[in-house]
Amino acid sequence: MFICPKCRNSMTLPNCSCGYAVPNFDGIWQLSDAPDAVKSGDDDLYIGYEEIGEAYSGNRKYIIEETDGLVAWEISELTGKGVFLDLACGDGCLTLPCAQNGTKIIAGDISNKMLGILKVRAHNLNISLDNVTLCRINALNIPIADESVDTVVANSVLHLISNPQKVLDEIHRVLKTGGAFVCLDDAPGEQNSDSDDNFLYYEIVNNLYNKYWELLERQGIYPKKYSWKFDREDACSRLFASRETRVIRHRGRYETKLSDGFLPRFLGRGFSDQTDVPKEAHEVVTELLMKDFRGRYGEDFDSVAYIGRYSDILMTVYRK
Ligand SMILES: C[S@@+](CC[C@H](N)C(=O)[O-])C[C@H]1O[C@@H](n2cnc3c(N)ncnc32)[C@H](O)[C@@H]1O
Ligand SMILES: [Zn+2]
Repeated sequence: MFICPKCRNSMTLPNCSCGYAVPNFDGIWQLSDAPDAVKSGDDDLYIGYEEIGEAYSGNRKYIIEETDGLVAWEISELTGKGVFLDLACGDGCLTLPCAQNGTKIIAGDISNKMLGILKVRAHNLNISLDNVTLCRINALNIPIADESVDTVVANSVLHLISNPQKVLDEIHRVLKTGGAFVCLDDAPGEQNSDSDDNFLYYEIVNNLYNKYWELLERQGIYPKKYSWKFDREDACSRLFASRETRVIRHRGRYETKLSDGFLPRFLGRGFSDQTDVPKEAHEVVTELLMKDFRGRYGEDFDSVAYIGRYSDILMTVYRK
């Protein structure tokens, strides 16, 4: 099922017939020795989340989001008794609910840190990882043999890679004939919340963000977006045999406090335009800002919440 990182022949974990034993760090198979991120040079570029790690999950560490639970049912049903590859699985927002459904999963990401967070979340949520193979892999060169898996999801990652076509080719290669590449997008659901509901939330977030970059720019530090545009629909329609869509209905209202969503991520340098901000400059600036904002908006300003309504989820299934 896997490809040996040394001799490139197919193998089962942990030992290849060439004599190589795949290292396992804390339950994570090290199937790639590619860097955590490649931000410059002539090779394909990508942004692994090793540096972002902790700051990514927010309060998700202790919950499965409703949306993820709904999507997971669909993926588990599509996968049946087969294998689901959660490519660039991050903190496991889909791996974990699918594991709960009893699905067999390969959860792969370039970041050991993110995979470690997935493990902590599984522990917090009392979810067994017995059916989950955790591995450090590069989506540009998936160490899985041809025609091995039944479903693949690569959620929120294609835009972080400069050569997404190569990733799609890899996904197509590892899928069994008839297997499904599942893409998830927001579909308009209920009316979005009234803008009045979130007036204060937006004011604080925008002010924080603008002030942050204003102070950093004075030191010559600028936001850098690592993200590449890509016409997925066009590329997939050329690669896959068929395409179907379904809408997963998701109604209801949610609230996310600044302290549960935006703030921990912002303070932890968890947004991709913050990836190149030096830690010290970040800490000095955010300490200043927090003091200033507590003065302006009150000590507990971080309990201001964003009130939103879920949107339906558009699931596109491309079949090999
Ligand atoms: C925005 S997160 C999405 C995580 C998860 N799929 C989700 O939907 O929440 C992007 C993930 O892609 C991973 N990543 C980036 N480049 C990668 C690559 N070349 N190979 C594997 N994973 C990669 C990052 O480490 C990060 O965990
Ligand atoms: Zn080998």
